[in-house]
Amino acid sequence: MTEQLVALCDASAVSEDTPVQAKLAGEELCVYLHDGAYYVTQDLCTHGPGYLSEGFVEGCEVECPFHQGKFNFITGEATAAPCTDKLRTWKTTVQDGKIWINPAEHAA
Ligand code: FES
Repeated sequence: MTEQLVALCDASAVSEDTPVQAKLAGEELCVYLHDGAYYVTQDLCTHGPGYLSEGFVEGCEVECPFHQGKFNFITGEATAAPCTDKLRTWKTTVQDGKIWINPAEHAA
């Protein structure tokens, strides 16, 4: 199982309410810490060119800095206009001080 996982970043690099961008195979992902648990979504907003790692986190929502649309970063659901399309999300594993995901979980 572990061999399918890829490390994205150090867990210590992510703090509560301050998401961090990580790159995987040329795609930007966003890593969040909320209530002691880590979450990963695509970093690029589904509405346009905004990067969610540059947005504002409140609770389990992230606000895109571009048009202020919002998403629940746990479920990926869009929660405020103009965003309507869901974000892709990945399950996280914390091991050896790093945050790991299975990239195949959301292979196109
Ligand atoms: S680009 Fe994110 S809300 Fe428009």
